[in-house]
Amino acid sequence: MAAELSGWLRVIGLGPAGAEWRTAEASEVLARAQHVLGYHSYLARLQQEAAALPALLDPSAVLHGSDNGDELARARSALELAEQGQRVVLISGGDAGVFGMAAAVFEAIDLGPARWRALDVRVLPGVTAMLAAAARLGAPLGNDFCAINLSDNLKPWSTVERRLMLAAQAGFVIALYNPASRTRSEQVHRAFAILRQHRVPSAVVIFARAIGRAGEQLLVTTLEQADPAQADMQTLLLIGNATTRCIARPGATPWVYTPRKLDGST
Ligand SMILES: C[S@@+](CC[C@H](N)C(=O)[O-])C[C@H]1O[C@@H](n2cnc3c(N)ncnc32)[C@H](O)[C@@H]1O
Repeated sequence: MAAELSGWLRVIGLGPAGAEWRTAEASEVLARAQHVLGYHSYLARLQQEAAALPALLDPSAVLHGSDNGDELARARSALELAEQGQRVVLISGGDAGVFGMAAAVFEAIDLGPARWRALDVRVLPGVTAMLAAAARLGAPLGNDFCAINLSDNLKPWSTVERRLMLAAQAGFVIALYNPASRTRSEQVHRAFAILRQHRVPSAVVIFARAIGRAGEQLLVTTLEQADPAQADMQTLLLIGNATTRCIARPGATPWVYTPRKLDGST
């Protein structure tokens, strides 16, 4: 494979689901990539799409799949390839900057050899799961909100608990990423116990599962009625604040919105 005089690294998000939620800019760099690095299942998703749309990937592009947990090593490999003059794309789901690969790349640069700071590295924005889920429902993020990653793989659980409590007390609408996984099922129960101490029982709770993918499920319920066990690794949770409202619709999931205007009591 002929190397360009100067290689580059683009860090992209594939969006939460299919090609329609991937930006044109991300698709354009994918088509030019000599190397694509990412978690196995994201690469499998790309290969599946490329089978139907061959222009998506150069047939000679090398795909480098790795496991979850290997993020720093994956980022370093991508930087080394770019340094060798290759056109490299590193992929995340959703947006690469939201609990994705972009931070791992900058950790690698920060800790790595000084020459990596001169590389042509760019992060391209993507559609994060929180925005895709919110759009399905209407406008639950219509007022102030925050996003919390419920995984305690990279931070102490005590930090997650403190942030949950403060976010709930402060009245943010809360998006919870990574509520559970095959090896982590208890945390979401503990998270709900904290939320129930600081939010009214009637607060709106949304389980947004596999949004945009086969098997998409949307459940709109309340904090009182929600069963945390329904959350899995494909689920994003949205916890409404005191003003978040539902608009019932015949035979359809209700619209959910958080009004733009707040009085001083919320
Ligand atoms: C490691 S985080 C990656 C987030 C990703 N970078 C983003 O911007 O959406 C994975 C979590 O994102 C959420 N997620 C990603 N895609 C989703 C989808 N299509 N539907 C619902 N939740 C999704 C889930 O909470 C999942 O556990």
